[in-house]
Amino acid sequence: MTRVFSGIKPTGHMTLGNYLGAVRRWAEVDQYRSESLFCVVDLHALTVEHDPGRVLRLSRQLATLLLAAGLDPKVSTLFVQSHVDEHARLSYLLECTATDGEMRRMIQYREKSAQAQAAGEGVRLSLLTYPVLMAADILAYGTDEVPVGDDQTQHVELTRDLAVRFNQRYGQTFVVPRAVKPEVAARVMDLQEPTSKMGKTTTGTGGVVFVLDEPEVVRKKVMRAVTDSGTGCEYDPVGRPGVANLLDVLAACTGGDPEELAGVYESYGALKRDTAEAVVEVLRPVRERHAELAADGGFVDGVLREGAEKARGMARPRVDAAYRAVGLMPVG
Ligand code: AMP
Ligand code: TRP
Repeated sequence: MTRVFSGIKPTGHMTLGNYLGAVRRWAEVDQYRSESLFCVVDLHALTVEHDPGRVLRLSRQLATLLLAAGLDPKVSTLFVQSHVDEHARLSYLLECTATDGEMRRMIQYREKSAQAQAAGEGVRLSLLTYPVLMAADILAYGTDEVPVGDDQTQHVELTRDLAVRFNQRYGQTFVVPRAVKPEVAARVMDLQEPTSKMGKTTTGTGGVVFVLDEPEVVRKKVMRAVTDSGTGCEYDPVGRPGVANLLDVLAACTGGDPEELAGVYESYGALKRDTAEAVVEVLRPVRERHAELAADGGFVDGVLREGAEKARGMARPRVDAAYRAVGLMPVG
């Protein structure tokens, strides 16, 4: 059976981009057609300035939201990365496989290291090595498919390269995975700045819809979305990114096609109103279920405890095999 692994970082509240680009498909499709693992990748949140209390709160909140979105712990495995030592254990071997040059080419590293420098903060070494830890997350489980949004393509490519290189050097150890992206909404853009990705950590969040936003807040954000000059709702992501983004979001929420929807609307106002309502309706059940689950923290903790135990059992044999393959001595 196909093995699926994916993760989400507790660096901010879950966004509509996370939901439409990744999480919704994990819950609605992936877990039922494959053996899947979904992970709150908390170690990845430490690569930039962070508040320890906030990372802790967000980790629990994201796990709760993943369950609220429909992940079923009877069908898939949900756990927290730092609960399973194999990720960090394997990451070191992959640091010994990757080169300095290929790490420095990663787009996210370039962007985030520039941001840290501009803010007068040091660039943490872990920001450079982060994609190697992500590769370890994936390779430890013999993953075939990694369902992610568009921004993770380069990291999954690196993961493939490392798997192939390791296998060539030390013998067949890892499955070579591939990224799987949604047809629409693989990159939901910021509503205020439609040439940038809608991100959890954006400052000034008027352009970011969060999964837990109240309906009134969602409506306000969508109605204030920046559209392009001109009239008519053509679907042109390059020339008219604001309108194209609304069409993408509407299509993703209603199961339609953005180009076809473009022909339906004559005014931006009507497009925004329908998009706002579609988003409110898609998020409503998740928000309501989250409120129920958040009231029962013991349940979420139990799911994560069992998930970590299962994940550990799945990862350990492959990570042990990798340790032996590179020449490390087993315990006698
Ligand atoms: P992150 O927020 O970086 O932890 O991302 C978790 C998942 O959501 C990854 O698969 C990302 O590719 C996906 N994702 C994040 N932001 C967006 C976005 N704006 N549009 C589509 N997918 C996204
Ligand atoms: N790097 C991913 C992101 O920023 C999160 C992530 C970490 C991940 N490990 C992963 C995604 C493994 C898929 C598989 O969104």
